[in-house]
Amino acid sequence: MKKPGNPFVLAGFISKDYFCDREKELTWLKDQFVNERNMVLYSWRRMGKTSLIHCFSNLYESALGFETIYVDLMSTQSFKDAIRSIAQAVHQKYGRSSGGISKSLGNLLARLGMTLSFDPVSGIPKISFGLSSPIPPEESLQALGEFLDGRKKKVLVVLDEFQQITRYPEKNGEAVFRSWMQSFPGVRFIFSGSQRNLMRSIFSDQNRPFYRSTQLLGLQPIPRGVYGTFIREHFKKEGQIIDDKTVEAIYTWSRGQTYTIQLICNKAFALKQALTKKALEHIHFEIIEQEKPVFYNYMKMLTKTQWEVLKAIAVSEPVSNPYSTDFIQKNGLGAASSVGTALGALLEKEMVIEENYQYLLHDVILARWFQQQP
Ligand SMILES: Nc1ncnc2c1ncn2[C@@H]1O[C@H](COP(=O)(O)OP(=O)(O)OP(=O)(O)O)[C@@H](O)[C@H]1O
Ligand SMILES: [Mg+2]
Repeated sequence: MKKPGNPFVLAGFISKDYFCDREKELTWLKDQFVNERNMVLYSWRRMGKTSLIHCFSNLYESALGFETIYVDLMSTQSFKDAIRSIAQAVHQKYGRSSGGISKSLGNLLARLGMTLSFDPVSGIPKISFGLSSPIPPEESLQALGEFLDGRKKKVLVVLDEFQQITRYPEKNGEAVFRSWMQSFPGVRFIFSGSQRNLMRSIFSDQNRPFYRSTQLLGLQPIPRGVYGTFIREHFKKEGQIIDDKTVEAIYTWSRGQTYTIQLICNKAFALKQALTKKALEHIHFEIIEQEKPVFYNYMKMLTKTQWEVLKAIAVSEPVSNPYSTDFIQKNGLGAASSVGTALGALLEKEMVIEENYQYLLHDVILARWFQQQP
């Protein structure tokens, strides 16, 4: 691996040297894996789920003798898309032999009614469904499962952004994936997702198919002290200094959210000089400016009351009782019933989250933008 130009990496996992902590979580994943348990990883956004999974595979694939099939379901809209994404990931993993694709992979694609083509410009291989109507998802998954189960090495299938399946037009997504998982006890699964409440209910609600069939891990922020040491050491290694107070301020402003901490440190490191209070404020300003188009989109998406409630929570966060007359009056929010409805919608959209009986904005940069407004 080439040394990165900046030790505060923003694009996923590149090596353990630039990856902070997560020791307990890695041990947990390893423990589940060796004991043949399927896993669920969930957290608020940008905490480090995907990077943690890549780190786990990178560290343990050869030691534990397994191979990873990583599938991102974020952009899938139906079972058909999901099957194509899984097949694409399988092809990416096993289809690169010098003598073309193996017989077993060719058979699998034929069974799925899929064809392999090459993008005329980039030359990148692409899997697509042929002209005949695709076989039912259950049968496609069965074929994929048999192929994966038949590999020499154990296979770990990662289905990232798994909550997306609840948006498919087919209503039996959870039942179909649950029976896929159960039909192949030799294949290990990680279901990962960033809509925390939805992920928790898919896997813990006793009326849903996945109830008590997996081990759950909710990813929390990396502890302040551990992250602080990581930040200081990387600055020091490159001959730069950052004082403890500044490190504290970075963690607090980011509310411990991994991505935001990495982004601030990346920008601070790039300055190649002592980070003054003013320089840190300028970094905050730049980060907020960059996100503004996203904020204006939120504004368009929400009703006026929802936007006002969002702002009121941001400026007073963490808020313990947003339904109280005190909070409503202090922020001039109008009728309690409409505040209640707006808050319900914001919680449903996960724009506002509830953590330890306190309400706050999910998007920390949006919260900081509201807070700096006069
Ligand atoms: N332990 C870590 N140490 C250093 N950087 C990390 C760590 N974990 C994640 N990151 C960085 O934080 C950012 C977010 O990580 P990642 O994409 O893995 O989060 P996620 O929870 O999967 O996000 P999303 O909810 O958007 O899918 C990335 O820029 C990644 O490089
Ligand atoms: Mg992710």
